[in-house]
Amino acid sequence: MSDLFERAQRVIPGGVNSPVRAFNAVGGDPIYVVKGEGTRLTTTDGRELLDFCGSWGPLVLGHSHPKVIAAIQKAVADGTSFGINTPREVEFAELLCGMAGIDKVRLVNSGTEATMTAIRLARGATGRSKIIKFAGCYHGHSDGLLVAAGSGLMTGGVTSSAGVPESVAADVFLPEYNDLAAVNEIVDARGDELAAIILEPIAANMGLVPPDEGFLAGLREAADRCGAVLIFDEVITGFRLGPCTYAQQCGVQPDLVTLGKIIGGGLPIGAVGGKAAVMDNLAPLGEVYQAGTLSGNPVAVAAGLTTLQLLAAEPPYEGMAALAGRLAAETNDRAVDAGAPLRVRALGSMFTPFFCESPIRNYTDAKRCDTKQHAAFFHAMLDAGIYLPPSQFEVGFVSAAHTEADVDQFVEAAASAL
Ligand SMILES: Cc1ncc(COP(=O)(O)O)c(C=O)c1O
Repeated sequence: MSDLFERAQRVIPGGVNSPVRAFNAVGGDPIYVVKGEGTRLTTTDGRELLDFCGSWGPLVLGHSHPKVIAAIQKAVADGTSFGINTPREVEFAELLCGMAGIDKVRLVNSGTEATMTAIRLARGATGRSKIIKFAGCYHGHSDGLLVAAGSGLMTGGVTSSAGVPESVAADVFLPEYNDLAAVNEIVDARGDELAAIILEPIAANMGLVPPDEGFLAGLREAADRCGAVLIFDEVITGFRLGPCTYAQQCGVQPDLVTLGKIIGGGLPIGAVGGKAAVMDNLAPLGEVYQAGTLSGNPVAVAAGLTTLQLLAAEPPYEGMAALAGRLAAETNDRAVDAGAPLRVRALGSMFTPFFCESPIRNYTDAKRCDTKQHAAFFHAMLDAGIYLPPSQFEVGFVSAAHTEADVDQFVEAAASAL
């Protein structure tokens, strides 16, 4: 065990500040990083790793993009936090609303805060308390959203979390992702109690699971039928597949959208936005309370503003999608050659190497994956200098900094690993 991990375990629970970093799902010692540049990470033991995790999604432009770093440095020189309004946050909100196609936005500090606020807003606006959340969708770690969440909870073998009161879990209906009939049944029976339907419009926390044709439009109809607020959690998908939200691309408009990751350019940020009629329920205009000492932090906003400006000026999406598509197709060919049960699924710049040969449409399907084979693959890739998310139930990311040569390196490493 590394000296650092030993020291960390003495003073940090499990040695980590976020559970999946402990490598429990793949075994072995977690790595420690001192630097990131472009697509490369440098570890404490001097290794260079080709990174396909990208800090779990935010680094769409790669590590340490010079213009983002310059914006951060400039902002820091003026002060790190004021707890007072700044012109930059107004500029950022204007740009974000324009690019995301929303009327209004409130900035928070993480994706967790964004979804927590969205749920409270939906409950405040409707005067109802129940929500529909889909099994295997992860929306951060607030109480009511930790019921059958995917991601780290899935890999840890925990279907929910201790410390979440039963009374909170009782307010959550839990259909399978892509099961519109189950949603309609709930809406028909209990629609007048429903405050919100929340989901990842493309699920990315049980591995990459796209919505079936008509699923999102069906949810829009169901929400309209019962007067519930439809919330798209786009903490991962926002600005990942285009310089916009996925809602704008798929043509189904939610009432609220939650954002994080990319919009902070690698600094802590989150946002909830949507239709003015719903957003105006937030304090100080309305009765739904929400606040934050560091909300709209000038340094995070500078990083986010520059990132969004760069994405708008030179959208890297076609190139990233082509690279991820080739990565998946060529790795799949090698898997067939090797007779390995690996199927890489890619969508835009996101991908998951699934160790499962049957199609995955929901949480039950995802649980059929062979996590032992995934762990062996993860370590063989790491030994070959490639860093993937350390869990079967996450997505890998291609960034604008990745090149054809990086994809070649991935495919060659995968072929040997298989
Ligand atoms: C879809 C989704 N929503 C919310 C969150 C929570 O965001 P954060 O980790 O910034 O609290 C995540 C985190 O991975 C996520 O993937």
